[in-house]
Amino acid sequence: MKKIIISNLKMNKNFKEFDSYLQTLKSEVKNFQNEIVLCPSSIYLDKLFSEKLKFSIGIQDIDHRNQGAATGSISATQVKNICEYAIVGHSERREVFKEHNQMIKEKISRCWENEITPILCIGESLKIREKGIEEIKKHLFSQLEETLNFNDNFQDIIIAYEPIWAIGTGLSATNNQILEVLEIISEKLSLISNTKNIPVLYGGSVNLDNFKDLQKISNLSGFLIGSASLDPNSLSKIINDF
Ligand code: PGA
Repeated sequence: MKKIIISNLKMNKNFKEFDSYLQTLKSEVKNFQNEIVLCPSSIYLDKLFSEKLKFSIGIQDIDHRNQGAATGSISATQVKNICEYAIVGHSERREVFKEHNQMIKEKISRCWENEITPILCIGESLKIREKGIEEIKKHLFSQLEETLNFNDNFQDIIIAYEPIWAIGTGLSATNNQILEVLEIISEKLSLISNTKNIPVLYGGSVNLDNFKDLQKISNLSGFLIGSASLDPNSLSKIINDF
């Protein structure tokens, strides 16, 4: 199975910076066998698409509806044929925009209707982590069962395990912590879907220094990278070494 790196640029880079970012990636990234997905701000999706690069394109979020009165939102219908992927349920959306599992479930359906692979982010807060593994399991189970359903017309999906306490903090989860959670996720996924080999990624302070070590986790399918992907030289090195 192909490994996957997703770069989430979040709300960063102006037009000029994004342009030079792409130029650096173009010159620094060598041949790669894996799936590399760039998720810039949506104002750059069209530009990225017209560059016809070897990277896949993802949107950082989509609306839970296909069209209508939703000022500022972008729907899966609108980015169909441009984006192959959409991040849904990122903890920043859950926290800042109060997005809940039901809405995220609807976003997943909109992705599938529009032939977009959703990247479903799940993960526990520090408060839950401190309560121990049973609480973490309960939390992740409910995030999965409230967004995915065995009866859904289950299609491609990627799960990104992103513990909230590790996002943007410089404090990555350890290999053992990730391994423990991978088991929890696969236990639940086997009950939710017949689909085998659903890729599970890790995200949370992945960088040039720690990704080699994190790569030792054999059943991990790749990484979702925020901060470290802002520097195109770091991202290129990660892609080249992946
Ligand atoms: P980070 O962000 O790599 O800066 O921790 C990851 C994410 O939010 O997806």
